[in-house]
Amino acid sequence: MNSFKTAVMGAMLLFLCFSAQAVESQNKAQNTVKTDADPGRWQLMTLMHTFEKELTKLRPYLVADEKFKDPANRAEIQKSLKVLEESVKGDRPATIEGNPNFSLNFSLMSYHVQRLIRAFDHGGFEIARRDLNATAHFCVTCHTQIPTPKGSLAGLWMGPETEAATFENAEFLFITRRFKAALEKYDELVRKFPKSGLKSEQVGEVFNRKLALFARVMRDPHEAVINFKKDLENKELPAEFQTNLKTWILAFESWKAEKTKIDSMKIDELVAFANKNRPTADTRKLTSSDPELVRALRLSGKLYEFLTKDPGGKHSQEILLNLALIEKQLSQLYWYSLYQSYLRECVLKYPKKPLTKTCFDLYEADVKEQFASELVSLPSDVRNTIEVLRRNL
Ligand code: HEC
Repeated sequence: MNSFKTAVMGAMLLFLCFSAQAVESQNKAQNTVKTDADPGRWQLMTLMHTFEKELTKLRPYLVADEKFKDPANRAEIQKSLKVLEESVKGDRPATIEGNPNFSLNFSLMSYHVQRLIRAFDHGGFEIARRDLNATAHFCVTCHTQIPTPKGSLAGLWMGPETEAATFENAEFLFITRRFKAALEKYDELVRKFPKSGLKSEQVGEVFNRKLALFARVMRDPHEAVINFKKDLENKELPAEFQTNLKTWILAFESWKAEKTKIDSMKIDELVAFANKNRPTADTRKLTSSDPELVRALRLSGKLYEFLTKDPGGKHSQEILLNLALIEKQLSQLYWYSLYQSYLRECVLKYPKKPLTKTCFDLYEADVKEQFASELVSLPSDVRNTIEVLRRNL
């Protein structure tokens, strides 16, 4: 995962350079009104089904290096990669183009896919296979940011649902948004641990998925309490997770009992609430055992939802700032986070607005911290990005 993080950091750095130019076209796209009857939805679904179909074809090769680099399979793999490349390079559906989060994540994915195809074409099979596996994270980043209406958690296809409860099968279901089936497999994996074959180092990963599902996608504290209590019955789970489970159960219990109903807030109320409760730049990063975790997941999920509904709305800049700060808090738990991108958006899209400088200062401080250096020794493309942003102050 670490080498993947490095790869993504690289992708993000290069991506910075394109953001400034991309803003102009994004601004235009945001003026498009989206409704359920939007034909763009059809385009979105076609794109998603293409992703799903090609990843399914590639699946047998993803798990084993020998299969992936076997010349006998090359043509088939190349064909699927080509289709993926065309789909990430083509026109974007309005839902993606018009939403800064989706749009950023999609651009990063597009860059990532094109880079791995280049590696494949040059015989870098190991890198290409690893990066192809990692593509899934981009899928998940979008999919776990949007709630799913109750009762529609299942996807359209049958497939790995009926296969064994392995971590890989559960992940594939999760990536392709078959959340209900994925949850069933995750449940079985932790409840039958260690006999289920789940490795100790994967337990945390499974719980991160389950937390995202309950707090962001299903938004169901009742179900979460019942579910986690069942997990707790397995006394063979590593001790730290027994403790964490108790913390999460309490967090979902207090969600059930809460007076300030975050779930039913209108946008003005939610933004005011987020402004009051948002973490500061020095707030510690949350760990799995932190009671704040569930609330942070919920709050950012709700903010995303509003941003998705009305990306150009009057609160968008505040939402971007809040999201960046919350995502930074969550960044230790999830493999990678878009928080720096939100800060850049907050500056690039809103020149000389009240929060522009706040976002810029946070961004600059964060980048410096990341490179643990002073401005002069930052890589030149990073320095350039900072200078482009500074012009908006
Ligand atoms: C930029 C954001 C984004 C990325 C990246 C993304 N998706 Fe999606 N995906 C969506 C949205 C939005 C939906 C629709 C959710 C809804 O409204 O039902 C969706 C839905 C889906 C669905 C369900 C389609 C249906 O018929 O209900 C599948 C399958 C899917 N995506 C697969 C993938 C795969 C595989 C990847 C990665 C290779 C991926 N997606 C990457 C945003 C994204």
